[in-house]
Amino acid sequence: MMITAGVDIGSTASKSVILGGDKILAQVIGSSSTNPAKTAQEIYQQALKQAGINEKDVAFVVGTGYGRAQVPFANANISELSCHGRGAHYFLNSSRTVLDIGGQDTKVISIDPNGNLLDFAMNDKCAAGTGRFLEMMARVLELGLTQLGEMHFQEGEPCVIGNMCSVFAESEVINLVNEGVPLPRIVKGLHHSLAGRVASMVKRVGMEPELVITGGVAKNRGVIDAIESKLKAKTTGFPQGADPQIVGALGAALIAKDQAQAK
Ligand SMILES: Nc1ncnc2c1ncn2[C@@H]1O[C@H](COP(=O)(O)OP(=O)(O)OP(=O)(O)O)[C@@H](O)[C@H]1O
Ligand SMILES: [Mg+2]
Repeated sequence: MMITAGVDIGSTASKSVILGGDKILAQVIGSSSTNPAKTAQEIYQQALKQAGINEKDVAFVVGTGYGRAQVPFANANISELSCHGRGAHYFLNSSRTVLDIGGQDTKVISIDPNGNLLDFAMNDKCAAGTGRFLEMMARVLELGLTQLGEMHFQEGEPCVIGNMCSVFAESEVINLVNEGVPLPRIVKGLHHSLAGRVASMVKRVGMEPELVITGGVAKNRGVIDAIESKLKAKTTGFPQGADPQIVGALGAALIAKDQAQAK
């Protein structure tokens, strides 16, 4: 059985996946830091330990994400666009459009029936429409990230958050709080604001079904609900137990397997 690994150094979180053939042996998520090389080493060692694998038994390692050039032990580094495509295809082989909502940027990736990259659009200039936007707002509202998702399904009409800029949207949220507007209405409004941004990106690339959402923000069911209502379309959920946040690292490990076999 061939052992390969993927290490995804994202702007916000670092992830590692170990594959034994096509089977996931380990998956680890940690925070990113100002020392990506050290973080990469730590996250990789944790994953090896979890899998019970010796480092010298790994045939090939692919680094991806923002810090992909800073993975000292990687045999190659590959753009996260390709990695997210491959990773999404592993869990759901009918996916054709992958929406990756990470901590710092949002990407719409269109893939072929084998999970290979065809086209993409990216928002990397602005926090609105990314995980950072929700992190900022959660802080203002004194809520945890998981509470945002839960509140979305409580009673009340979503507020309209008019400002596209996260800095101004933050002031808007503070005003709403001080007017006594119930938190679930504000949270829903924030999810709809993010969804509006993301939905227009999806429309730009063109939405070939099935649509899947990856990245840490995909763990927020409220965001998924708001995106579905903006697009007037259903997204395909991941299988039970599959974590949408490790999809990039998984794709990297799958590409590592291809490259090791080609050698
Ligand atoms: N349980 C959760 N519920 C809601 N949001 C979550 C949860 N866990 C993580 N997140 C969000 O996921 C984001 C990180 O996701 P991810 O790991 O995909 O980002 P990244 O790869 O570091 O960023 P990028 O791809 O933009 O460089 C954080 O901004 C955080 O807000
Ligand atoms: Mg990412």
